[in-house]
Amino acid sequence: MTIDLAALPEDFLWGTATSAYQIEGAVAEDGRSPSIWDTFSHTPGKIDNDDHGDTACDHYHRWREDIGLMRQLGTNAYRLSIAWPRVVPGGDGPVNARGLDFYDELTDALLEAGITPSVTLYHWDLPQALQDRGGWPVRDTAHHFAAYAAVVAARLGDRVRHWATLNEPLCSAWIGHLEGRMAPGLTDLTAAVRASYHLLLGHGLATQALRAAAPGAEVGIVNNLSTVHAATDRPEDVDAVRRMDGHTNRWWLDPVHGRGFPEDMREVYGVELPERPGDPETVAQPLDWLGLNYYMPITVADDPTGPAPRAREVRRPGVPRTGMGWEVDASGIETLLLRLTHEYGARKLYVTENGSAYPDVVRPDGTVDDPARQEYLTGHLAACASAARRGAPLAGYFAWSLLDNFEWAYGYDKRFGLVHVDYGTQQRTIKGTGHRYADIIRAHADSGRRAA
Ligand code: FCB
Repeated sequence: MTIDLAALPEDFLWGTATSAYQIEGAVAEDGRSPSIWDTFSHTPGKIDNDDHGDTACDHYHRWREDIGLMRQLGTNAYRLSIAWPRVVPGGDGPVNARGLDFYDELTDALLEAGITPSVTLYHWDLPQALQDRGGWPVRDTAHHFAAYAAVVAARLGDRVRHWATLNEPLCSAWIGHLEGRMAPGLTDLTAAVRASYHLLLGHGLATQALRAAAPGAEVGIVNNLSTVHAATDRPEDVDAVRRMDGHTNRWWLDPVHGRGFPEDMREVYGVELPERPGDPETVAQPLDWLGLNYYMPITVADDPTGPAPRAREVRRPGVPRTGMGWEVDASGIETLLLRLTHEYGARKLYVTENGSAYPDVVRPDGTVDDPARQEYLTGHLAACASAARRGAPLAGYFAWSLLDNFEWAYGYDKRFGLVHVDYGTQQRTIKGTGHRYADIIRAHADSGRRAA
């Protein structure tokens, strides 16, 4: 498998990604308050092995070492998220300076190391105090989010240029409020639809707040999208594809592109949206870039009596799968990058997450050989380069993840890192895939030098 590296721009961002709750630990330090993920992960039975993020990768104390790992990988960008409960512990109201200090120091150290920070404001860790007042189903939460965004931008905006408002609002709304597998763990369609609405409203308000506080900010939103296939060619299954595509992709893309919430999906949900005049314009702030998180395709069959979107996921037999059981299909990332380019007119795209979990084995000499993950990385990068060759304005790729970390409901058993973490000792070891990534980054720089 070769990657057409010459198709990628010379100033391509080669990054890794993480999120606050998954790596930081130090949940009660320096004024941080609990988030909905602290509550959820400490609710017995919600997380495999009843794992939680209390210590995680202890990145809050080991971040200097972790920047050292980024340097060893040769990356020139790093996507991190800010923990809202560190910065505004009550959700709204007083700002906790010590929380901001942490990200301030981290930003400076990244820049010193030649690594561009790409900051996501919300990667699912809503302050529990706001959940207690209704959480995302309540409109005020969107305004509190924008106020928090302004606080962060005022402190970091002189050095951070790349900003994302939300990470994967789909997971917050659908998995958190409809399927109940993520915090806050509800199974309530009305709450889920209202949450989806206020998340996107919050995105629009936060975009305005970021730009007001940091005029040079380049603002985007990060969505996890999937290609959707029909289990059979029965017309019912083909129509199920339309609904799953609406649920997974169009519901999140259309409103931010000024097209409003898709009519067909409003009908599927049958829940009145909490719309107010002016909201559609707020949600549709012009964006500098779009972020794509891609992991897998979805295959669906009609499920007339099932929950919205009445499409049931079907496991295709005989296809390669990761340790998550997720189907491996690199062509999906290319299809989606081209769809964002042609259907949504994206001017700049980043793959903000892509990666795979496999059961890793640490060999007696301490090394981790992970051929399946290397193949996943190479195949998906080749598909990204192919999309760029075909016209997608792809400006960067962020591998999920820098480190093995707290994989939400799956706890610590599922390892996505380019770097292995021994949770007993906190020892970090670059896996084979990390070395492969470093080789690719070097080869890209060399191809530029040769062409020059
Ligand atoms: C994405 C999340 C990220 C990580 C990967 C595996 O949905 O954004 O935090 O858990 O999946």
